[in-house]
Amino acid sequence: MASAAAGEVAIIGSGLIGQSWAMLFASGGFKVKLYDIGQQQVTNALEKIRKEMKFLEQSGSLKGSLGAEEQLSLISGCLNIQEAVEGAMHIQECVPENLELKKKIFAQLDQIVDDKVVLSSSTSCLLPSKVFAGLAHVKQCIVAHPVNPPYYVPLVELVPHPKTAPATVDRTYALMQKIGQSPVRVMKEIDGFALNRLQYAVISEAWRLVEEGIVSPSDLDLVVSDGLGMRYAFIGPLETMHLNAEGMLSYCDRYSEGMQHVLKTFGPIPDFSGATVEKVNQAMCVKVPNDPEHLAARRQWRDECLLRLAKLKRQMQPQ
Ligand code: NAI
Repeated sequence: MASAAAGEVAIIGSGLIGQSWAMLFASGGFKVKLYDIGQQQVTNALEKIRKEMKFLEQSGSLKGSLGAEEQLSLISGCLNIQEAVEGAMHIQECVPENLELKKKIFAQLDQIVDDKVVLSSSTSCLLPSKVFAGLAHVKQCIVAHPVNPPYYVPLVELVPHPKTAPATVDRTYALMQKIGQSPVRVMKEIDGFALNRLQYAVISEAWRLVEEGIVSPSDLDLVVSDGLGMRYAFIGPLETMHLNAEGMLSYCDRYSEGMQHVLKTFGPIPDFSGATVEKVNQAMCVKVPNDPEHLAARRQWRDECLLRLAKLKRQMQPQ
């Protein structure tokens, strides 16, 4: 069976991100043990995964070469951490974003794992030097930070602890590629890694433009969704520079002065409170009322858009 060939993976924490990782690893033919602290959490997670995989199969968007039933048969729930990690070549931690909790989990894993398994955390913003501090198996530890929703957005940031072995990074990189994700190497840990640093830079300037009354909140979002974002789904900001002139050198030659002039006018870090938050909130609630039903419906629509975009990106392989 495909499971035996691909290997075994343990997921610690069966919430939103744990479920996505389970589906991704199963799509690559890996046998997955999904561990959580309560039977109810595990049962809910397995039910949600079943529903999602059936939907994906029906809509022609299931990843991997196996059918939904075959992939589902690779995933099992587990309430014993030792059993969950036994035989695993990769452990993906997905418990809530709390440093003390994550440290406790990795200290527990440190006691029971061998010298071969990779210990990986899904943390969005905790630094590897904090999460993996003092572990005997630190060479095998890495952050593999996915982007929500990971099944449709393939980027995974790989961030090492200063003592992580290069082989751990290489193995995790290859594993991410094998399950169809798009890994990037963040060479050294830094607050926000790469994605959130870029995201916060954009949010910060968006906020200032609205605060200063330069554009309305809904027009600000359009600048990205109907402007920058159209390109950025296919090429990043650096390649955009390269293509928007006769190559990068020509772009810098033509536009560096103008860019620096604009960059010098950027304001201070916003405090995200007061009248501006009222204004932005009001505009967002006109677009999407902030009750659970409307938010859930809009998220579902967003995920459908991302699913179709992912399909388009597969069709539009670079020349
Ligand atoms: P979640 O709250 O949906 O799931 C957490 C799961 O961990 C729950 O099922 C909970 O029962 C379980 N859990 C709690 N204590 C545990 C323990 N001691 N042992 C085992 N399981 C335990 O959280 P979510 O959103 O899945 O986030 C998980 C991690 O992924 C966090 O570090 C988060 O920062 C990161 N992440 C989240 C993203 C998001 O958009 N939700 C995106 C990228 C990363």
